[in-house]
Amino acid sequence: MNSTQTSLVPEGPGSVNWTDRFAARARIGGGDLTAILSLVGSADTITFSGGFPAPETFPVAAMETLVARLVGHDAAVAFQYTPTEGLPSSRVAVADLVESTQGLRPDPADVLVTSGGIEALQLLCGVFVDAGDAVAVEAPTYLGALMAFRRSAAHVVGISMDGGGLDVDELERHLRGGGPVPKLLYVIPDHQNPTGLSLTLERRRALVELCSRYGILVVEDVAYRELGFDAEPLPSLWSLAPHTVLQIGTFSKILFPGVRLGWAIGPRAVVGAMAAGKQNADQCAGALGQRIMSEFVAGGHFPAHLAAARRLYAGRAAAMLSALGRSMPPAATWTRPAGGFFVWLTVPAGIDTTLLAGRAQGEGVAFVPGAPFYVDGRGRNQIRLAFSGVPEDRIDEGVRRLGRLVTDSTRMEA
Ligand SMILES: Cc1ncc(COP(=O)(O)O)c(C=O)c1O
Repeated sequence: MNSTQTSLVPEGPGSVNWTDRFAARARIGGGDLTAILSLVGSADTITFSGGFPAPETFPVAAMETLVARLVGHDAAVAFQYTPTEGLPSSRVAVADLVESTQGLRPDPADVLVTSGGIEALQLLCGVFVDAGDAVAVEAPTYLGALMAFRRSAAHVVGISMDGGGLDVDELERHLRGGGPVPKLLYVIPDHQNPTGLSLTLERRRALVELCSRYGILVVEDVAYRELGFDAEPLPSLWSLAPHTVLQIGTFSKILFPGVRLGWAIGPRAVVGAMAAGKQNADQCAGALGQRIMSEFVAGGHFPAHLAAARRLYAGRAAAMLSALGRSMPPAATWTRPAGGFFVWLTVPAGIDTTLLAGRAQGEGVAFVPGAPFYVDGRGRNQIRLAFSGVPEDRIDEGVRRLGRLVTDSTRMEA
């Protein structure tokens, strides 16, 4: 198309306004994430917005041999459809990986291989959430999950977090309050998106006990679990209560998003119904990605691969924390993540970070404002900073630009 052509079929008199005909579910928000991620500035912009894995962690050398072998010797499987639940080798690989990192082995027959973590959430919504059903989430929580719950017209309730993760006492007070009991609780216990915080061991135990008492399905998203910088991870919620917890995992952060693969394990009835739903969705996750993943697991590559990724992210997190210390005004506070991709920054109450994000574009720095991560209007003076995709030497400059903006806005508020 040349530069004067904008469309092959121009809008004109008599053309239908298709948006008027959209299904009701397509009118329920959903544009938040797209709008935020499209806030790009100049080519020089340092972007702390997307939760993208660092390309430096992609195992390119291992893939060169592995993919060539699959193409040469395994095309009949790797290029074919797969069973809806996943190839047997992929389900075994997920079971092996989960066993090695969580100390409990799921039966491979109960593993559903999905096209990423977000598909697992969508399938779960299809099985579990009718319009108006109550769903509880951490406040704040992952935008993609909020969008999935909203599309199902769920009534989403946000339970506060503090330095120890979800406030389980607040959840208990909410349950005792006599309102509708949520059908499920969605929680990211390790290095959470967006705060970087983790749920303490004591709260993990209390949470699964409370939810099993009330008959609430705990949906545990372990997207960042294997990316702790130092300490051994705490027990997964699924390993503490496999009959109460549906675990959703993804290979996007620990391998690469191009494989577009995730998993669901948990109560057999739930996983089975999700698999039935998948038959009406994409039918199966891509075979090539599944073969790449299972060969990578079977080849024993994961421990060294994860160790290298942890080192890289730990360096970036440390660079961001020390840059924040140098550049932020005294009234700002931030989390100190022990893993994952994110720091959560709180600036003085009068500063609207959605407006600040617009001004930051002009200064060559991008971030995600806090409000969309909540369901109830909180977070207007908060910011999610993803350090994962920015090299250490650029982190300092990006935070310096942001610090200048926050300092100026703080003065204007004073
Ligand atoms: C907590 C959480 N869960 C799930 C996902 C989505 O993973 P996937 O790329 O596998 O759909 C993300 C991606 O940002 C995430 O942060």
